[in-house]
This record gives sequence, C-alpha cells and structure tokens, in this order.
Amino acid sequence: MIISIIAAMSDNRVIGVDGKLPWDIPADLARFRNLTLGHAVLMGRKTFESIGHPLEGRRNIVVSRTMGKTEGVIVARTLQEGIAAADGDEELFICGGEAVFREALPLCQRIYLTVVHGRYEGDVNFPQPPCSFAELHREDFTDGTPPTTFLVMEKVDRFEPGGDAEELRQKGIEALHRRLYFLARCCFGQAQAIEDSPETASDLAYSQAKSGGELPAAQKLAEKALRDDPDNLRIRLNLGRIQILNGEKGQGLETLRKGVQMGGGQEFLSELARCGTRGTPPIKSLPRSHPLNRYLGILMHRLRGQ
Ligand SMILES: NC(=O)c1ccc[n+]([C@@H]2O[C@H](COP(=O)([O-])OP(=O)(O)OC[C@H]3O[C@@H](n4cnc5c(N)ncnc54)[C@H](OP(=O)(O)O)[C@@H]3O)[C@@H](O)[C@H]2O)c1
Repeated sequence: MIISIIAAMSDNRVIGVDGKLPWDIPADLARFRNLTLGHAVLMGRKTFESIGHPLEGRRNIVVSRTMGKTEGVIVARTLQEGIAAADGDEELFICGGEAVFREALPLCQRIYLTVVHGRYEGDVNFPQPPCSFAELHREDFTDGTPPTTFLVMEKVDRFEPGGDAEELRQKGIEALHRRLYFLARCCFGQAQAIEDSPETASDLAYSQAKSGGELPAAQKLAEKALRDDPDNLRIRLNLGRIQILNGEKGQGLETLRKGVQMGGGQEFLSELARCGTRGTPPIKSLPRSHPLNRYLGILMHRLRGQ
C-alpha cells in the first residue's frame, strides 16, 4: 500500500485557521475528491469535525484519543493503528491536520501538495518535507483566484534519475514495481529522450496513465508502440492495462487475452483476474496459486485461443 499525504498550503505554509481552511477553492476540492475517491482517507479528529461528516465513497479513518464510536468512521487511537485500518487499499491518503502530517511524513512515499499563492494568517502549518522528497510533477493554475500550483513529490531515497538510457529504464522499472508512478514516468521520459524505443514508450505511457496523465494520449502512445513492435508482450500488457484504465474494458481484455495466446504468463492472467474474468481453477481442490493450477490455466487459455 502506498501511503500518501494530500494537503494544501499557502506560500507561508499555512493550512488552516480557526478550525477551517483559509480559502475556498472549488477546483482544489474537486481534485482532492478525484484523487481520494475509492481509497482510504485518514485524518485527525479536528479535521474530521471541521468537515462535519464522513467523506462519501471512501474508507474514513479518524485518529483520536477521545472520540467515541461514530457512524461511517473507523476511529483509531494511534497513527499506526489508523494506517493498519487501511490495509488492503492500494493507496491511503493522509489528509491532515498539522500533527498528523508531521507524524506521517517519515512514513509516506508520496505528497500531493497544492500551493495556494499568497500569504495567509493561520494557526496550523504544513511541515517541511525531508529532502528525500523530489518534485516529480508540477502544474500551475495562474487563472484562478487565488492562483495555485499543484505538486506531486515522491520519496526518491534509492532513485536518482540520471545515467544512460538503459540505467534510466531499469530505474523506471524499479519505480513501477514500487508503484512510484511519477518517478517511473520521469525515468522513462528521460530514457526515451536519449534513445527512442517502443518498449520504453509503452512503459512511459503506462506510468503516465497511472500518474494522472491524459489517458487518451497515453493509450495513443502505447498503441503506436505496439504497431512498431507487435510481438512485444510487455508493450501488449501495458496497452491492455491502459485501455482498461481508459474505460475501454472490452478492448483491454481482448488485448490481454491475445497476450496469453501469444505466450504471456502470470502478469496477463493477474490483470484478467483483477477484471473478474477468470473462471474456477482447473483443479478445484488446489488453490488458484498452486503451480499446477497456474500451469494448466495458462495452457488451457492458450488452447482455447487456437
Ligand atoms: N489545508 C489542508 O490541507 C488541511 C488539511 C487538513 C486540515 N486542515 C486544517 O487544519 C486544521 C485542523 O488541524 P489540526 O492540526 O488543528 O488538528 P487535526 O490534526 O485535524 O486533529 C488533531 C487531533 O487529532 C487527534 N490526533 C492527532 N494525532 C494523533 C495520534 N497520533 N494519535 C491519536 N490521535 C491523534 C487528536 O484528537 P483527540 O484530541 O481527540 O485525541 C488531536 O487533538 C483546520 O483548520 C483544518 O481546516 C487543513
């Protein structure tokens, strides 16, 4: 599970005043909603009280030593207990306030930070992230009142983008494994700039799709990569995943099934399983993950495709 912090602070690091947000920025609230929807959100008791109700469509976890049982909310007595309550979610969003951010910073891998330009009076601040966080994404919204900048930072302890195309590619793959999609995007983007390759282009497209990039553009990039290298299974896997993310589930499943017929293994089957398309395992008395079931499953899938 990725532990992320999501926050909005002013140029002078203020995040709140008198129990409220110091600003009203509907576009930022909408982004907060889009990013957190379907995930677990964790917040301090005062932040929960200032919102006034559980956030719909999300698993709400509130840390408090005093709060009693509350409908629609998991109350945790410590931050660790709160994090454990999010177990099984792909991403946990820590939503503040100040003490919660401070305690969570050493534990989190990603920070979504809106900087609200201007100096605000306030009584709570956003703590300075350690320098192991690197900015991987930046968008300026200069038309809004107030103007804002949206940043995404990720912990880069072991990753220092740089090196030749192959090194960058390997870093990108490692970042993908750790689900550090912005970092992966950064590494594949740099690798691609040094040496154009269809496989790297498809990895770039997948990390773009997973890091909130334009899905149709990511799909186009992966489609072109597959046209350039049609037998490449990694490219096919990336394209199938992107098609599903882009809402083209039928097409995505077809791309993945063809991959299985072409010799693609567990990664393709796991992706199909995630979409709920797998039937019962060949040997029902053995677990699905048993090597015999895996092997027979792949074999039968291929035979069906002949
Ligand atoms: N701009 C932003 O991104 C943002 C985000 C969130 C909040 N805010 C603003 O920040 C303000 C609220 O933040 P705040 O810092 O004052 O309060 P808060 O962090 O929301 O809540 C503090 C309370 O949370 C509980 N708590 C904190 N750490 C805990 C831990 N480790 N274990 C158990 N309980 C813990 C305690 O509750 P008990 O006293 O019940 O034990 C503590 O009194 C508001 O103005 C809000 O609008 C801004």
